Amino acid sequence: MKIQVLFGTESGNAEMAAEDLALSVRSDDQEVEVHDLSDFSISELQHDALYVFICSTYGEGDLPNTALPFFADLNIVRPDLAWVRYAIFGLGDTFYSETYSQGATKLADKLNELGAERVGEFGRYDASSWEPVGEKAVEWFSGVLEAAAQMQ
Ligand SMILES: Cc1cc2nc3c(=O)[nH]c(=O)nc-3n(C[C@H](O)[C@H](O)[C@H](O)COP(=O)(O)O)c2cc1C
Repeated sequence: MKIQVLFGTESGNAEMAAEDLALSVRSDDQEVEVHDLSDFSISELQHDALYVFICSTYGEGDLPNTALPFFADLNIVRPDLAWVRYAIFGLGDTFYSETYSQGATKLADKLNELGAERVGEFGRYDASSWEPVGEKAVEWFSGVLEAAAQMQ
């Protein structure tokens, strides 16, 4: 099963987390691709892949810039995603208490609405914690892989 890591970012933290996560699982036996959501079209979604969305929040609980075209396409095309399995890790900051990590929540809600199935826990990263975002993402993803193995 290929792992496709898709990140949405505004200032690069989600990309950093995506790259660290990919590095931690890539091996001769495990194919992993990393794409910015702005370079990834819904027509490229494939069977037999686990999609890992890493997405920050900007504005007032909005998606970051690079996730906007993909999100708009989900709304316009409304593909049937019943065959898609995905995991999601949201970056945010509890300083924004009303809208904490809402960008990723909006993306997950849309994927669910279109039939996709989430694997594992919804990951959250709080920038106010000052913890290294890559380490948090890698730690979270090991739980996702366990959950995915149990589903097979
Ligand atoms: C102008 C601005 C607005 C933000 N708005 C929110 C928000 O509404 N909710 C939230 O949880 N985090 C918010 N954040 C925090 C970012 O999501 C957080 O810093 C994240 O790590 C950024 O990741 P990125 O570099 O991948 O975009 C905001 C940050 C900035 C600079």
